[in-house]
Amino acid sequence: MADLRTIKAPIQAEIDEFQGYFRKYLKSDTRMLDLIMFYLLKQKGKQIRPMLVFLTAKLYDKITEHTFRAAALIELMHTASLVHDDVVDESDKRRGFWSINAIWKNKVAVLAGDFLLAKGLQLANESHEYRLLDIISKAVGEMSEGELLQIEKARHLNINEQTYYEVIKKKTAALMVACTVAGAVSAGVNETDVELMRQLGENIGIAFQIRDDLFDYEVNGIFGKPAGNDLRERKITLPLIYALQNSPASDRKWAIKTLRKKEKNDDDIARLMQFVRDAGGLEYAENAMLRFADKCKEILSKTPDNAAHQSLSDLIDYTVSRKK
Ligand code: IPE
Ligand code: IPE
Ligand code: MG
Ligand code: MG
Repeated sequence: MADLRTIKAPIQAEIDEFQGYFRKYLKSDTRMLDLIMFYLLKQKGKQIRPMLVFLTAKLYDKITEHTFRAAALIELMHTASLVHDDVVDESDKRRGFWSINAIWKNKVAVLAGDFLLAKGLQLANESHEYRLLDIISKAVGEMSEGELLQIEKARHLNINEQTYYEVIKKKTAALMVACTVAGAVSAGVNETDVELMRQLGENIGIAFQIRDDLFDYEVNGIFGKPAGNDLRERKITLPLIYALQNSPASDRKWAIKTLRKKEKNDDDIARLMQFVRDAGGLEYAENAMLRFADKCKEILSKTPDNAAHQSLSDLIDYTVSRKK
């Protein structure tokens, strides 16, 4: 499988230039914020979203000033969403480091996330990128709706596959759609191709989140995120949905009772993981994820064949087989 370095090759110069652009927007005059931004910059993440923006623009042969702004704006929104998400999920690890809330507490993390969102607005406004702002603000709105829908469903434990897909389309795929759409728009492509890119972003996003949800079952630790956290938070993801719907009533009753426990200990979590594994929930989710990857490839086959095309194809493979 191609690694991220190889995938980035056709857009390496642009990604390098993007770093400086992104960094500029993280400057603050407040000492504490500056410290937090410095901390965030040290752990930059995979930068899948900027890659998607540049690769879609490059697929249509045209990286412009708009492409850079789109990449920076989206990565700002993404970073903000992670800072907030770790507060919401009460998660103390991110990218292999302590989360902002773990170090500075929730209040500071919420405000630091707001700062990042504001910086994104500033970027779009300063450069009069109103179409971009339209694309991205819609995505960010959907992300909040997705997260809230997820919380609502966690309360009542009443989530089925259809709702699961609704949640992940909003909380994760919406921003990936913004990447591919903004990338295509920045290259000035026609509306038919924009629509094709919308579909690509959506299917990549869904596959990406299923992969992420599978990480929660990797006991020996996927790099940088705690395992079992979704179960602890009663977050109902595809492996669990399948297990709940395909196991004997007595097992299901036990699982629901355990999920409902306010304070689940390590043994509860380990047993819930085993319950999902035994019911075949992991394979089921894995197969579903691969179907979305196939869909991505099918969409991609309708686009120009060039170096960016190859990288996007590799990025799809990476999304479903990645280890972090
Ligand atoms: C994490 O996204 C949030 C999800 C949508 C699952 P990434 O895995 O892309 O995060 P970083 O930026 O690489 O850390
Ligand atoms: C994705 O959901 C979060 C966002 C889209 C912000 P998760 O809560 O599963 O993401 P991780 O696992 O914390 O990265
Ligand atoms: Mg989370
Ligand atoms: Mg997760």
